[in-house]
Amino acid sequence: MNGTENSDLLLKIINSALKSKKLYPPGHPSIAAPVNKVFQLLSEALKTDNNVMIGILHETLVFDDNMIQDGDKLYPDILSYMGDKNIDALIFERGTSVKELSTAFDILSGPRLQGKELQRELHTKGVTHITLKSIPTGKRNALEIYNGAVEVVKNVMGEVRMGKLPKTEPVNNIIEEITETVLSDQNAIMGLTMIKNYDNYLYNHSVNVSIMAIALGRNMALDKEELHAVGVAALLHDVGKTGVAEDIIRKPGGLSSEEWEKLKEHPLLGSNIAKRMEGLEELIGRLIYEHHIKYDHSGYPQTTSSIHPLSQIITISDAYDALTTLRVYQQPHSPVEAIKVMNNFSGRHFNPDTLKAFVNMIGVYPVGTMVRLSSNEIGVVTKLNSEFPALPFVKVLYDMEGNSLEASFELDLSTSQDKAIVSTVNPATTTTDIGSFFEKEAANAV
Ligand SMILES: [Fe+2]
Repeated sequence: MNGTENSDLLLKIINSALKSKKLYPPGHPSIAAPVNKVFQLLSEALKTDNNVMIGILHETLVFDDNMIQDGDKLYPDILSYMGDKNIDALIFERGTSVKELSTAFDILSGPRLQGKELQRELHTKGVTHITLKSIPTGKRNALEIYNGAVEVVKNVMGEVRMGKLPKTEPVNNIIEEITETVLSDQNAIMGLTMIKNYDNYLYNHSVNVSIMAIALGRNMALDKEELHAVGVAALLHDVGKTGVAEDIIRKPGGLSSEEWEKLKEHPLLGSNIAKRMEGLEELIGRLIYEHHIKYDHSGYPQTTSSIHPLSQIITISDAYDALTTLRVYQQPHSPVEAIKVMNNFSGRHFNPDTLKAFVNMIGVYPVGTMVRLSSNEIGVVTKLNSEFPALPFVKVLYDMEGNSLEASFELDLSTSQDKAIVSTVNPATTTTDIGSFFEKEAANAV
């Protein structure tokens, strides 16, 4: 834009337009006047420039490429507005009409929307020449957190293998992040537990168990400290396997009794590591020690003393993830089959109340279940419906003839009266890999 005078005037008027927006209802002449003035000045500027940008860089107001000295004092409303709304740049392109400008001011001054939502609303309302850039909130999405957790486990195990004591802080931090996501976006992160990495089984398994344990703990209304301890213990439950030879861990069944004895040491080894890690609560070591002790005290290590009630949260999550994973010695069970198998061991391997809470949490058709609908279409359960558990949300991937759909679509079975789930489908009979499906879903949600 030519001349600082024009830019000063433009900022001044935008500032006052924003101020008057706070004071007057839409359509009031006190708003129309500055909007018209902004339009005039903008049009002038856009004769020579393709676009005009107002932004914030390191908390300083920027106009096109120029830092505005004392911008915070001269135009406080613009700065506080953009900060509140998570916008870091407003870009006006050549062709911006007065109508777009006026609509934009209406939308931008609304109380509810922020950042990306504002941009979407602008588009919906036909404003195509004004673009917003939103400030990333610094929060990672579900997939980034999932991958971050895999890294944390990998590092922890790597440190142990090198004879070092693993650092506690990254473990605590990732558990905080997972817990937050379980609260805000449970379906997405539960979907990601369908990622079962055959080659790096141990890392993904540890992450999956911690996600499920946190979700279950939350459903059982644990307090904050307990939930954190359960999450950390779940993430580290198999850390003792670093002390067991790789070929024993990967052996396709049929361990010799000597090898089996060695494998059975991993809960004790793991709990000793956790006990030595700085600042980890003692309970964590105990939960790790007990993760293979069953409700009826079968399993290992052998003990007659009572087991901590929270250790069952890990035992159950561990069993579920193991059952739903392809192993050298086992085809994966579908989520529904896994629940059936586990229910058979209720009261023996598993505490019936904890198992019931787990089954309730993951639903009749857990997220990640592949299902056939009454229309003969095939899809994957993506979201639960707590009110109507048998009518979850399903992303349809195959049409009624079994052809893979180019554009998959989501169905809310509670509102699509003519469609219901008639059976589950083994994903191995289709071309879909459920883990990659959720990975893509999460990446697209960004
Ligand atoms: Fe284990």
